[in-house]
Amino acid sequence: MKPPVLLTKKLPASVMARLESACQVELCDGERDAMRRDLLARVAGKQALVSMVTDTIDRTVVDAGDALKIIANVAVGYNNVDVAAARARGIVVTNTPDVLTDATADLTLALILAVSRRLGEGERMLRRGAWPGWAFDQLLGMQLRGKQLGIVGFGRIGRAVAARAQAFGMTIAHTSRSDAGIPLDRLLATSDVVSLHVPLTPDTRHLIGQPELARMKRTAYLINTTRGPVVDEAALAWALKNRLIAGAALDVYEREPEVHADLLALENVVLAPHLGSATTETRTAMADLAVRNVIAVLGGDPPLTPVA
Ligand code: GLV
Repeated sequence: MKPPVLLTKKLPASVMARLESACQVELCDGERDAMRRDLLARVAGKQALVSMVTDTIDRTVVDAGDALKIIANVAVGYNNVDVAAARARGIVVTNTPDVLTDATADLTLALILAVSRRLGEGERMLRRGAWPGWAFDQLLGMQLRGKQLGIVGFGRIGRAVAARAQAFGMTIAHTSRSDAGIPLDRLLATSDVVSLHVPLTPDTRHLIGQPELARMKRTAYLINTTRGPVVDEAALAWALKNRLIAGAALDVYEREPEVHADLLALENVVLAPHLGSATTETRTAMADLAVRNVIAVLGGDPPLTPVA
């Protein structure tokens, strides 16, 4: 008898094949509300749950999973999983670090370039037929060479962003829990671009709010590719509207898929739909790592990438 596993999303064919060779796979993917009810009903009796970043795996789900041995979250962030509840029941939780570092760092650079070179504004102007043709002083942005990139959270992704930004001639400042970083206040006051790479925890919720935005240079840009609630979205809209900072580029939002209405109306913000790890190669590697974790744990081996 193969162990029963519940998936909340179909995975790439090669990964499904690997999982199906070792497990009895059931898929539970529907619209959000129906999906929640379905998930609670179907997680019972399953030995593994493969979840996505959009699934809320709270205590109710964990308790409904009476036979669970592992929750394999297909994401590096795991704020959507109640890890303490899982741990209390002896359930292993795994994430997918490393395999998405390059993709997320690449997207961060794409956002830095897009906002500092006003690409979104330019494309909107062109598409609405309002481009008068090349003009000497049209849509002037900020050059990156010689500017300071302030990286908040100098882990795997933060470091990969630093390496890329250095190739563009930027200097790097960073905050960090473990090595010699600078205090957040100083980073905010001195950086031309501030990029957020801390995980979402109770300590980092609204890490960037009104006082922090007010501390930034009026010419600076804020980039968020981590989790929406790290930034107070209403405060950010206020700061952008009042030109306290020059612009922002966001890949994540406080209440996805909702976006603060004021942000939608502003020209000086680039809005991406949570694309950090969205390459075919990376999503396949993430799914594969999650499935390898499931197969390891259900086979009695230690997980490859348990969460800290
Ligand atoms: C995606 O948002 C992730 O944490 O992998």
